[in-house]
Amino acid sequence: MKLDWLKEELTGIKNKGLYRRFSIIESAQTPRIIRGGKELILLSSNNYLGLTTHPEVKKAAIKAVEDYGSGAGGSRLTTGNIGLYESLEERIARFKDTEDALVFSTGYMANIGIISAIMNIGDLILSDELNHASIIDGCRLSRADVKIYTHGDASCIEKILRTSKHRKKLIVTDGVFSMDGDIAPLPEIVELGEKYDAMVMVDDAHATGVLGKHCRGTCDYFNIEVDINMGTLSKALASMGGYAAGNEELIDFLSNRARSFIYSTALPPPAIAAAKAAIDIVEKENPAKKLWQNVAVYKKGLTDMGMVINSQTQIIPIMTGEARTTMEAAAELERLGVFAQGIRPPTVPEGKGRIRTSLMATHSGQDIMDALDAIMVIKEKFNL
Ligand SMILES: Cc1ncc(COP(=O)(O)O)c(C=O)c1O
Repeated sequence: MKLDWLKEELTGIKNKGLYRRFSIIESAQTPRIIRGGKELILLSSNNYLGLTTHPEVKKAAIKAVEDYGSGAGGSRLTTGNIGLYESLEERIARFKDTEDALVFSTGYMANIGIISAIMNIGDLILSDELNHASIIDGCRLSRADVKIYTHGDASCIEKILRTSKHRKKLIVTDGVFSMDGDIAPLPEIVELGEKYDAMVMVDDAHATGVLGKHCRGTCDYFNIEVDINMGTLSKALASMGGYAAGNEELIDFLSNRARSFIYSTALPPPAIAAAKAAIDIVEKENPAKKLWQNVAVYKKGLTDMGMVINSQTQIIPIMTGEARTTMEAAAELERLGVFAQGIRPPTVPEGKGRIRTSLMATHSGQDIMDALDAIMVIKEKFNL
């Protein structure tokens, strides 16, 4: 009786075509996966560099289990702070070219922890309208005033900053937008941060390991610096976790004030070791080079079939519009041998459903050609 409302809510979600089910994958995150007993091309993974199955990454994870066991057994400030952590944070700071870094258990927890720790009632946050949900939740938790600016629009940011009387201000943006694959106009944002004394935070979840001369992310791409570099270890870095990178005071402060850091169990040893090994490989082997070659081939294939591509990166959405069309097109794509996630509201705005395709460095030329053939079929069938 008390829980009857759940049934009604679920019916409402189903009627709007927004009901979500788990997709079960029966293999590793490789370019070809097994799902429902069938081999499919994986065209939606965040394992951009294919490092989750790299022998060195697997070896490091296995050794960490052998040396330290499967779990951390406590939070970082209690018993969970094994030595591997210090070396990972040192490695991240070196990789991101910052003074220091702090690892959180997920990217989501990093965003809510960082933003709610540094911003408070009476402060002002300027947040891009397409920022990731974890940034939005961090803004809400902070209880600061939040102004949403038009996607990627520096003039909109300036208009807000010009009239702000807030003492502390923060501009926060995804570096690479997770559902569109475009890059934030960071040089303009950093300039505005300087001009109006506003801190700048970039979420490099989808840029770390792939973008820029040294694959460090968006700041490396533009050759600029921001106050707070946030990123994840869960995508190109083939593991689990999030991080804040910046100056020593920032990291010291977050270690003392970020609640999602303090009150949660530390990452398990294999996750820490795998992330560190992945950073070593990014620097030693530059797997992103092959990723960008694959992106170029794939984009050319799509534009040759008449599709308009706004993405600048490895995330390339195929716009499908309504939620129902999105899911039908994704299902058809799967029947044709390609697994890519259909994305509906609330993850994207109403009417802007899409199939989120993304490339991996480990995709072969044949994988890409086969995927393009299947996309051509759904393009015709659904008039995309
Ligand atoms: C832009 C962005 N930020 C943060 C996150 C959260 O990271 P994680 O999955 O490691 O919690 C994601 C992942 O979906 C993301 O796309």
